[in-house]
Amino acid sequence: MNDRAAPILSVIVPTYREAANVPVLFERLKAVLADLAWEMIVVDDDSPDGTADIAFGLAARDPRLRCIRRVKRLGLAGAVIEGILSSSAEFVAVIDGDLQHDEAILPAMAAALTAGAADLAIGVRVDKQAGERGLSPTRQKLSDAGAWFFKRVSGLSVSDPMSGFFMIRRAIVGEIAPRLSSDGFKILADILLCAPPGLRIVETPYVFRKRRAGESKLSPLVAMDFLGLIVHHASAGILPIRFVLFAAVGGLGLVVHLSILKALIAAAALPSFSADQLVATIAAMTSNFLLNNEVTYREYRYRGWSILSGLLLFALVCSVGVVVNIDIASWLFDFDHIWWVAGFAGALVGVVWNYAVSTSFVWRGRRSG
Ligand code: GDD
Ligand code: MN
Repeated sequence: MNDRAAPILSVIVPTYREAANVPVLFERLKAVLADLAWEMIVVDDDSPDGTADIAFGLAARDPRLRCIRRVKRLGLAGAVIEGILSSSAEFVAVIDGDLQHDEAILPAMAAALTAGAADLAIGVRVDKQAGERGLSPTRQKLSDAGAWFFKRVSGLSVSDPMSGFFMIRRAIVGEIAPRLSSDGFKILADILLCAPPGLRIVETPYVFRKRRAGESKLSPLVAMDFLGLIVHHASAGILPIRFVLFAAVGGLGLVVHLSILKALIAAAALPSFSADQLVATIAAMTSNFLLNNEVTYREYRYRGWSILSGLLLFALVCSVGVVVNIDIASWLFDFDHIWWVAGFAGALVGVVWNYAVSTSFVWRGRRSG
């Protein structure tokens, strides 16, 4: 007979290249969760440093650890969702695998949930001594602005909707799982926006630590990811987060294009308007590529010299987009003679084309280093 109690808490740990950190985290969980029936579930996206092998090695000796190795699938939110969906425990926690979150607050979070006082406990980063926070000042500002904005759109007053550290009653996520987005990083914000009203939330403070081993996969630009999530929800889930980001980058590209064109014409440095237009086009395409590479398709991004081949591929795809755009617009214009309907429809089809081909062709099947 099995003398081990079934876990009432699963601690989900998404990992990408955290081989050195996983054994340390497991030891720390053993120490702080000694009084609970718990398990740790590592969800690894086939990290090249062998994180999954390390986890499987530990799991072979201790049933409190499980590992899910995902292949050809990338992304933090999706990994977290899969981990949660593999659990049968009453409560699930999500914690980063890089030791930046303080696992010592897990018992307090668990106590709030098991006592029935709350459905969700959020780990909230606090600043202990100024200058000794794990967050850079820029990141702190972005995070505060995000919380304010989140409250405006959702009505939910949580101080850190972008936290990657929380504990929740598993049934809640089970119910909304089909509506959660696996793209992006903001899994907690997504859960909050999808959850039925009346969720009882407690916030548990902790001090965000500096990363010791490995490197961060996110950047301050992930704030754009958060905006993508908000628009995705505002469209009742019709627009995918990635499309929202792609379109936003495209809008920014238009601004870049027109500003450069204006400056070039003013400077009269080039021989003709066509030359000005060509340079502005190339500049806008390059900036679109770089921003999409950094934000929209971050998990799949090109690095080093391969950025050049990515840019060429992107330019090729976009030039087809331009041809399709002009074709559709001219055809519609012949038909109804309303210039803005034709122009808008052409641009829309162009963006959708560029997005679809960028997603499935330019950035697909790649993994950032
Ligand atoms: N499985 C999987 N797949 N795990 C991933 C992936 C991925 O594509 N990308 C990152 N991770 C894992 C990392 O290995 C780490 O354990 C955790 O997710 C967080 O990634 P970091 O790269 O350390 O993120 P961060 O420290 O910059 O960001 C933290 O703060 C953000 C708020 O500012 C995270 O907690 C975010 O979730 C949070 O939104
Ligand atoms: Mn981190």
